[in-house]
Amino acid sequence: MTPVLRVENLGKSFTVHELGKTIRACHGVSMTIMPGEFVGITGRSGSGKSTVLKMIYRTYVPDEGRVLYDSARFGTIDLCETDERSILYLRKREIGYVSQFLNLIPRTTARSTIEEAALDMGRSAPEAREEAEALLSHFELPPELWDSFAATFSGGEKLRLNIARAMVKHPRLLLLDEPTASLDDYSKGKVRDLIERLKGEGTTMLGIFHDLEFMQGLCDREYAMSAGNFTKRADVLAGAAS
Ligand SMILES: Nc1ncnc2c1ncn2[C@@H]1O[C@H](COP(=O)(O)OP(=O)(O)OP(=O)(O)O)[C@@H](O)[C@H]1O
Ligand SMILES: [Mg+2]
Repeated sequence: MTPVLRVENLGKSFTVHELGKTIRACHGVSMTIMPGEFVGITGRSGSGKSTVLKMIYRTYVPDEGRVLYDSARFGTIDLCETDERSILYLRKREIGYVSQFLNLIPRTTARSTIEEAALDMGRSAPEAREEAEALLSHFELPPELWDSFAATFSGGEKLRLNIARAMVKHPRLLLLDEPTASLDDYSKGKVRDLIERLKGEGTTMLGIFHDLEFMQGLCDREYAMSAGNFTKRADVLAGAAS
């Protein structure tokens, strides 16, 4: 079986000009994710977790290493070298990303935020509408908010909408950066339910979590990160393919 993702020896440093210093965010990061796996990354603040995810999503270009992704459209490609057009296509159709921070589309209602994501995937207008309403209900966003601009939502409501937008796509690969960080336990449970459902549908997921206790029974393997590298090699621990 071809891995969905094969990260090889990724490294990235940042130059902070004000300080005249270079920060090594991560180095020598390697991992392999097979189709349908749900892999977790844990580690302390500043250990480089988001940097790794951003290099996979190509928000950051690494200084070294490769990110081999098995695309439905393009076959296996190195995301570090793929042209911008293909990256935009992949972000639209194959790779979903839930950011650690809120980034909602301005002047767009909650309903259209999700509908547009579904339409991008090629769903029909009635299908998109139905799926959007199902997700808005699942996340218990009050119906009177569905046609309001998300900019006025509370932090937790925005976060739930953010997640719903990524999940409606049923992406081939879903990257989650602490999707439950600022949610109460009840809302976390709602996110967990959807992750479980996506997993049941065979979605491959890589997620950063503060602690994996909440994902117990769902997460297949864990990589623990410290000072820019994995200290616990999940593939070795679990004896899975690498
Ligand atoms: N764009 C950037 N410019 C400069 N430094 C950066 C940048 N992005 C990340 N860093 C630095 O790289 C290191 C790793 O950051 P990263 O965001 O990957 O950590 P993290 O493990 O996700 O932390 P947290 O759990 O707090 O989100 C930090 O020291 C951070 O300051
Ligand atoms: Mg982070």
